[in-house]
Amino acid sequence: MKRHTEHVIVVVAVLVLIAIVLALFGYSGLYNIGADDHHWSLTYSAMQTVRDRSIHVRSENIKVPNLDDPQLILKGAGQYAAMCTSCHLQPGVENSELREGMYPQPPNLSKMHVDPQDAFWVIKHGIKMSAMPAWGGSHDDQTIWSMVAFIEKLPGMTPQQYKDIVAKAPPDEDMDMDEGDSHSHHHGDTDARQNQHDSASAPDMSMSASMTGMNMGNAASNAELKPGGSPQAEVAAQAFQDALANGGREAALALLADDARISEDGSSQSRAEYASHHLGKDIAFLKNAQVKRLSRVSAESGDRAQVVTENEILATAKGKPVTVGSHEAMQLKRINGAWKIIAIDWQTKSEAK
Ligand code: HEC
Repeated sequence: MKRHTEHVIVVVAVLVLIAIVLALFGYSGLYNIGADDHHWSLTYSAMQTVRDRSIHVRSENIKVPNLDDPQLILKGAGQYAAMCTSCHLQPGVENSELREGMYPQPPNLSKMHVDPQDAFWVIKHGIKMSAMPAWGGSHDDQTIWSMVAFIEKLPGMTPQQYKDIVAKAPPDEDMDMDEGDSHSHHHGDTDARQNQHDSASAPDMSMSASMTGMNMGNAASNAELKPGGSPQAEVAAQAFQDALANGGREAALALLADDARISEDGSSQSRAEYASHHLGKDIAFLKNAQVKRLSRVSAESGDRAQVVTENEILATAKGKPVTVGSHEAMQLKRINGAWKIIAIDWQTKSEAK
């Protein structure tokens, strides 16, 4: 009995001593709190685990609404452009001055996919001791879901698709009115306006066009778009382009999956509709045209791939030379070992020369 009491006293004394040492260490100022002095990797991974578990346990039972609702996505686009890009970036932007010096560094949400339940919880509640604010105080759940819906579609979106959707989003001013809050929007605001301005000069592309583009973006959401990202899908995309240029109707159709959707400047057609009408027109148009490749990038994940091509087409329309800028986003699927096109989204912009 006596020995037992002695043990307890020793344990308590040691614990008190540890507490005193920790308090002295903290008070001494020896700990470097600077954001540019990074944690030990062990500390960091321990904190990551605490963070991930804490989020996950709390988000597990959150009910996810329909995140494919175009209106919800569109609303989220406006929110994102206004409030999130200075930290989380946007397609075509690799870093920001603000983000650069942050620790932990905000993830580039245009290049990574976040679980919707986790995303909702983090956006609503923020993350302690990091720069991620809790937006729940100033935004209702529906608005937060719109942000989640948008960031689900963001990975793989091209800078142009991003600009187009942000330009169509309900203006941020309206959102502020019904919320009456005053969090600092400045960075993002300029971005959003800039985007609106940029695309004002482009021909109006219908909502459905940018939506198709976005779904494509999502198909290979875990892979980054880069030149040669999916060499085989690029070959299929090139074969399709060659078939059109050489009048190879059958060859072109053979590359289209049975349920393919083809969308040209916003009007979407089935494979059969395309075959009976626009295919012939495209072949005729390309027959005497010169196609100049500006860029091609692709990504592949599992049986899905995406190929995005920018071309400049020099053609003749009504006897006059025209230059057409073409953005082509293709979604492909591996069917019985061969890559077939399941969706094409063409957006064109012509300038008379
Ligand atoms: C001032 C900078 C800042 C702003 C503005 C900001 N965030 Fe964050 N966000 C962060 C940081 C930093 C993290 C990472 C925190 C961590 O991992 O501990 C983060 C994390 C996240 C995550 C979790 C990602 C993951 O890997 O699980 C999501 C989702 C997110 N932010 C969404 C948003 C949205 C949506 C907005 C705009 C409404 C926004 N953030 C605005 C700094 C910011």
